[in-house]
Amino acid sequence: MKIVVGITGGIAAYKAPELVRLLKKAGHEVRCAATGHALEFVTRVTLETVSGAPIYSDLFASGRTEHISLKDWGEMLVVAPATANIIGKVAGGIADDALSTLLLAFSGKPIIMAPAMNCEIWAHPAVQRNVALLKSWGIRMVGPEEGELACGVSGVGRMAEPTLIADAICQGERLKVKGERWLVTAGPTYERIDSVRFIGNYSSGKMGFALAQALGDAGADVELVTGPTSLSISHPRIHRTSIESAREMYAAATEVFPHCNGAILSAAVADYRPSECADHKLKKNGSEGMHLDLVQNPDILATLGNMKTSGQTLVGFALETDNEEANAQRKLEKKNLDYIVLNSLRDKGAGFGVDTNKVTILSRDGKRRESPLLSKKEVAHLIVETITA
Ligand code: PMT
Repeated sequence: MKIVVGITGGIAAYKAPELVRLLKKAGHEVRCAATGHALEFVTRVTLETVSGAPIYSDLFASGRTEHISLKDWGEMLVVAPATANIIGKVAGGIADDALSTLLLAFSGKPIIMAPAMNCEIWAHPAVQRNVALLKSWGIRMVGPEEGELACGVSGVGRMAEPTLIADAICQGERLKVKGERWLVTAGPTYERIDSVRFIGNYSSGKMGFALAQALGDAGADVELVTGPTSLSISHPRIHRTSIESAREMYAAATEVFPHCNGAILSAAVADYRPSECADHKLKKNGSEGMHLDLVQNPDILATLGNMKTSGQTLVGFALETDNEEANAQRKLEKKNLDYIVLNSLRDKGAGFGVDTNKVTILSRDGKRRESPLLSKKEVAHLIVETITA
């Protein structure tokens, strides 16, 4: 892969040559783009020697539009270290030097940042807001997650180790979905009772969005069909379709599935909906109780299982409270799946709403992979790695 390593002015810039060395060793082509402040911490000669190419640090040096040619050349841009300043510039759309200009020009291609800064600066609401904004645009942060910055001695925020950053860069490469098209369903469905009420569930969409992100980062084009959620996602390879009800999700999923290499259905779809939806707010009718007449929704996963052709991979989820593995195994067979990802509601920190999950992946050919409690991002990566192995 052709990787541009961007370096900004923080003490952790001294680790940049080691990152470049690791990436070259892994077989990547590397070019460096450094800010003027970065070159106070690490020399031009060092970076040019390890990368084997001239570094890009001056917007006007060559009189040419170097940021455009570097953007065309690079397949990924990694900023390590990323200071609060560069994060803020990207968030604000500011392009006033070589690296910030390259970063804006690079939108549409994968960008990874390894933040490094003082703990108090990291915790500042403005920085946290900027980080969240960049993440929502699909820029991946490696290292300090929100609220858990690794503080070293004398209060200096540590950048993730170069080995960890190199690993994050190569992660996507190991997932063999580049150039493929995948469908992901996420979130809950809402089944309307009347003009103001619905039947829903606690799904936040986090698991499904993490799966879409993992597939998109690995080079797949993703059709993300999602129920109502507060999450946003902006990724050049993720196309989002927002729906409300199970029947709308069914229509969207069955339309795109024939054009996909595979599908992962992580949505929590309502099995039943009210047989009628009132077009006004239902009033109390004076009696003690009220009965809702429910009818069954279409089973999207089972339908895709019937539609599936030999080249396609179909992955379902199972949310169980008892006899977990036996129930999941039954769903795997009955719905003609290749894999099923089991969530047990008995596992603390797993399932609805939280940022973590713990899953067991069962395959059609009898393989079984169990994860510890991980972030939903890590679980998504594990799932994609398993189903494409
Ligand atoms: O969104 P989060 O807050 O991050 O939470 C994630 C999650 C807990 C929702 C997710 O990890 C999960 O377990 N999703 C599946 C939830 C579920 O509805 O499981 P189920 O056992 O009822 O359904 C089995 C499978 O059939 C699922 O793949 C489901 O998407 C699919 N299904 C179910 C009913 C239906 N009518 N159509 C379907 O496609």
